[in-house]
Amino acid sequence: MKEKLEQILKDAQCEIEKCDDVKTLDEVRVKFLGKQGELTSILRNMKEVPPEERKTVGMLANGVREKLEDAISKKSEKLEEETLLKAMEKEKIDITMPSKGVKRGALHPLTRFNNKFMDICVEMGFTVIQGPEIDTDYYNFEALNVPKNHPARDMQDSLYITDNILLRTQTSNMQVHAMEELKPPFKIVCPGRVYRNDDDSSHSPIFNQFEALVVDENVGLKDLMKMIDVILKKLFGENVKMRVRPAYFPFTEPSIEIDATCQMCQGKGCSLCKGTGFSEVFGAGVVNPKVLEMSGIDSKKYSGFAFGPGIDRSVMVTNKIPNIKYLFRNDMRFLKQMR
Ligand code: DAH
Repeated sequence: MKEKLEQILKDAQCEIEKCDDVKTLDEVRVKFLGKQGELTSILRNMKEVPPEERKTVGMLANGVREKLEDAISKKSEKLEEETLLKAMEKEKIDITMPSKGVKRGALHPLTRFNNKFMDICVEMGFTVIQGPEIDTDYYNFEALNVPKNHPARDMQDSLYITDNILLRTQTSNMQVHAMEELKPPFKIVCPGRVYRNDDDSSHSPIFNQFEALVVDENVGLKDLMKMIDVILKKLFGENVKMRVRPAYFPFTEPSIEIDATCQMCQGKGCSLCKGTGFSEVFGAGVVNPKVLEMSGIDSKKYSGFAFGPGIDRSVMVTNKIPNIKYLFRNDMRFLKQMR
């Protein structure tokens, strides 16, 4: 029996030594120490051992069991450590590797200009509103004093959905919506997309405008000019010069066109400003009393002024973009240069 126990110890130690993963080690444990294990069955059958040998055999068997348990637990610790080291080796981060780089997005130049303009207007007390890009002929033209067959419609050939519904040609439609909905005094600004049947390097069928409208008591041309002067300085810098030309818009009387120092050549004269040093930025004017009345505002008590810059041209000029279409193509090569 003694030899048998020693043989078991030897065999088990040898098998434990050979194990190179936790699973086989556990199989060895079951083989010797499990319920049906070789050592367990000896311990279980102690009654078959002659009584005078029982004590020695018992002590010997328990000693073997302790040695095996000890060997298994040591081997198990070693294997776990090895597994961990292997995993660490495999998952090691090479901090000297060049990084993939984090791709950062940026705001589109139109959005940046839009935000800048909105910030300026909000600082001046304007409320930002938004309204329909698909609108009726009434809001886009009629209520702005541009009746059917008015020659001013020629300048804004639209994309019609039905005879009466069109893609708005100007954010000025929002003047009418605002006047119908708000009680004066109010100051609103509306950024938005507009649509016209136009297409060349500086005109796109889709482009962006703002509409700013102030309705209050006793406001007029001098308030409009002062406000535009402040806005241009905030937009293009303190040194910007402003030039005013008479213009015609059916919804304003008088109507003016505002030019500012050409941002492409900083006023020196270039092909864009045709050597004048100025480029056109705003259409503006004092709201025609007829337009106020049509939207239910008492023109004897209230007056108003409005301006409506197109923003795409300004973004083109300030960023030296040769074709307006680049602004709408979402070409990454172009957008990356605009960051
Ligand atoms: N809506 C005009 C256009 O698209 C621009 C404009 C001119 C807006 C005069 C105004 C204004 O508010 O008062 O050409």
